[in-house]
Amino acid sequence: MPTVKFVNEKKEIEVPEGANLRTAAMKAGINVYNGINGFGAGINKFVNCKGWGMCGTCRVLVKNKGENCAPKTTIEKLRLSAPIPEPTVIKKDDEELRLSCCCNIEGDVEIITKPALDMWGENFFS
Ligand code: FES
Repeated sequence: MPTVKFVNEKKEIEVPEGANLRTAAMKAGINVYNGINGFGAGINKFVNCKGWGMCGTCRVLVKNKGENCAPKTTIEKLRLSAPIPEPTVIKKDDEELRLSCCCNIEGDVEIITKPALDMWGENFFS
């Protein structure tokens, strides 16, 4: 069985192959929702699309460019590229950025929950 290591929470769980990351995290008591850089995280835990890949608020970083996870779905790719309702701009970690509700686990993975959003881009003040 694959092992999922949640780096920030310092927690490891074993899941069946093909398990959904969001579901596995919730079963382990880990909140994948962060609001906008922590603002609204408490509300976001309850106000989200419940795993339909529409709200984009369950984003996580999967180390090693997301290997050992199923490929991104079309819905996930569209949601991660859309700036609405919030800018999801994490350019340098693009391949590692996943929606946990759309990410199925195929092997051992390391997960960083609640990655910070770069709200204004690198050149905002230039
Ligand atoms: S729960 Fe809404 S995109 Fe994952």
